[in-house]
Amino acid sequence: MPHWIDACAPGDIDAEDLIRFDHAGATHAIYHGPDGRFYATDGLCSHEHVHLADGLVMEFLIECPKHNGQFDYRTGEAKRAPVCVNLRTYPVRVEAGRVLVELP
Ligand code: FES
Repeated sequence: MPHWIDACAPGDIDAEDLIRFDHAGATHAIYHGPDGRFYATDGLCSHEHVHLADGLVMEFLIECPKHNGQFDYRTGEAKRAPVCVNLRTYPVRVEAGRVLVELP
């Protein structure tokens, strides 16, 4: 059953940046998009399981630090080789000054 998890404060993530967020033995990435909204995906690249939090955000893309594969972090879609498996995404909302992520 999914739960809304308190991940961070909005100010903890600069615009067009991301943070790593670990919960219940799983690693996630939370992004602050150029549209002012927050997004969440799996935290490890689907290619070789590198932490995406060490990568680079460009508008709505996250570029993996290892082989420069890219994903659209709004949808999880793999956008540039060598990544070919999409990331899982998770609903995010901001409530009472906190960023909440719905995790399974
Ligand atoms: S580990 Fe991410 S692109 Fe290879």
